[in-house]
Amino acid sequence: MGRLSDKVAVATAAAQGIGRAAVKRFVQEGATVYACDVQEDKIKQLKIEVGDAVIPVTLDVTDALAVRNFAARVEQEQKTIDLLFNCVGHVPEGTIHECDDAQWHRAIEINTKSVHNMCKAFIPRMDAKNPEGDKCIVNTASVASSVLATANRYLYMVTKGAVIALTKSLAHDHVQLGFRINCVCPGTVNTESWRNERATTPELRQAFEARQAMGRVATPEEIAELVLYIAAEATYTTGEEFIIDGGWRNSAGGIGTASHEDLRRYL
Ligand SMILES: NC(=O)c1ccc[n+]([C@@H]2O[C@H](COP(=O)([O-])OP(=O)(O)OC[C@H]3O[C@@H](n4cnc5c(N)ncnc54)[C@H](O)[C@@H]3O)[C@@H](O)[C@H]2O)c1
Repeated sequence: MGRLSDKVAVATAAAQGIGRAAVKRFVQEGATVYACDVQEDKIKQLKIEVGDAVIPVTLDVTDALAVRNFAARVEQEQKTIDLLFNCVGHVPEGTIHECDDAQWHRAIEINTKSVHNMCKAFIPRMDAKNPEGDKCIVNTASVASSVLATANRYLYMVTKGAVIALTKSLAHDHVQLGFRINCVCPGTVNTESWRNERATTPELRQAFEARQAMGRVATPEEIAELVLYIAAEATYTTGEEFIIDGGWRNSAGGIGTASHEDLRRYL
């Protein structure tokens, strides 16, 4: 028996990075997964790689009508809808002074309103399918949010902090209906967008790694493993932000410079 045997999951940002790793992990544990993304070719390829338990869905999660139509389709096709993993997001850079109205609206649409669209469309359908049972939603925030201030991430922090608040509000309002609604707050993760848009030179990559207490950034699989744990095992937890950042926040006062020899002197 897998940890998600006979469960039906919906995951967004499934074409690459954390979302893709999560789809694979959910399927390994026995789930049927609707893998949603705007990158049609990549999600079709994912189905070829992973198998028939993946149902590729071309979906723009900022399009509320398309999201509602998709949720109605899943309701028709499945006996239950057990798990919703909202993973879409993008990383606008800069301070408030580089943020114009268009960027503000785009960031809110992609990072925050998309999560709202998915939750609004799916919560009633998840409930109708399984009123008495466990229903799980995992949203994707970031440690760069209300959790930890990072430089030049004004819009990103605003929109991801809102995902944390949205998560807590939804969790509070739906706990008595059997919903567990949590979010994950990753630190830096080695994904396509990180490599192609942020860690674009060896120097930048080193700077990202140097700020991590563990001396490396996360793999998408490490984040997927936490999402799976929340979905399959964390049955007494709702409204929480799960920080997964390699000790970054805890080391915000600065990473120690003591040598291994010094550190081990008294061990
Ligand atoms: N990579 C990191 O360092 C990091 C750190 C903290 C949090 N996060 C968050 O994790 C999530 C995933 O990040 P990642 O780096 O794995 O992904 P990524 O940026 O590599 O990929 C994002 C995926 O989302 C899809 N997408 C974008 N807009 C969409 C839309 N409107 N509708 C449907 N799909 C859309 C893209 O096609 C892409 O496949 C994001 O919410 C991100 O903010 C990432």
